[in-house]
Amino acid sequence: MFSLPHVHLSRELEEEGKLLAISQALGMRDKYTEGHGRRVSLYAERLARRLGLSEKDIENIRIGGMLHDIGKIGFSNRIFSNEEAALSKEMHDEIHSHPLIGRMILSGMNFHESVLDYVCYHHERVDGKGYPSGLCNEEIPLGARIISVADCFDAMTTDRPYQGRKNLPEAFVALNRMSGKVLFPRLVSAFIEEIRENGVISETSALPDTTR
Ligand SMILES: [Fe+2]
Repeated sequence: MFSLPHVHLSRELEEEGKLLAISQALGMRDKYTEGHGRRVSLYAERLARRLGLSEKDIENIRIGGMLHDIGKIGFSNRIFSNEEAALSKEMHDEIHSHPLIGRMILSGMNFHESVLDYVCYHHERVDGKGYPSGLCNEEIPLGARIISVADCFDAMTTDRPYQGRKNLPEAFVALNRMSGKVLFPRLVSAFIEEIRENGVISETSALPDTTR
């Protein structure tokens, strides 16, 4: 079919601009969460590519990874600055609302429906004990399961206010413990292979130049 390359290019640029603006808006609230989104996006893209998914699916997973925590933009300061692992019921509920809030923020912004699903379901667990819907195994969209592995890995290999980072062998042990409960086993093994072969993303390299 006949197509105009410049039309595709301008759409891509518009999409990138939109992504950057949303990601930077989140960065104004919390720098860690912005960097985390960028790293999760890169890890999720690598895993999706390794699994041989289509370019379109890889693209939507990359976008979903970048925006997965956008629902945190309205979090209160006490959650961003919380240094305790234990949370009050109120804080717990606020945290658990972020996938649905994320979906709400992005709906109407012309993202592909699958991107909204990835954002909404990135905290589901394969054993059905996740949120917001308690989906199990393959009921969870593949892109959301991929983002979930990338999300867990980045959270454990970077410093958080309430816990220090794990080294690589410790992180692989932790991922394997989550396999079959939180994370989809085939994705955990493929992700570990990917990291063994191609390494980790450094905390600063995933940030835009302007923030260095
Ligand atoms: Fe999240």
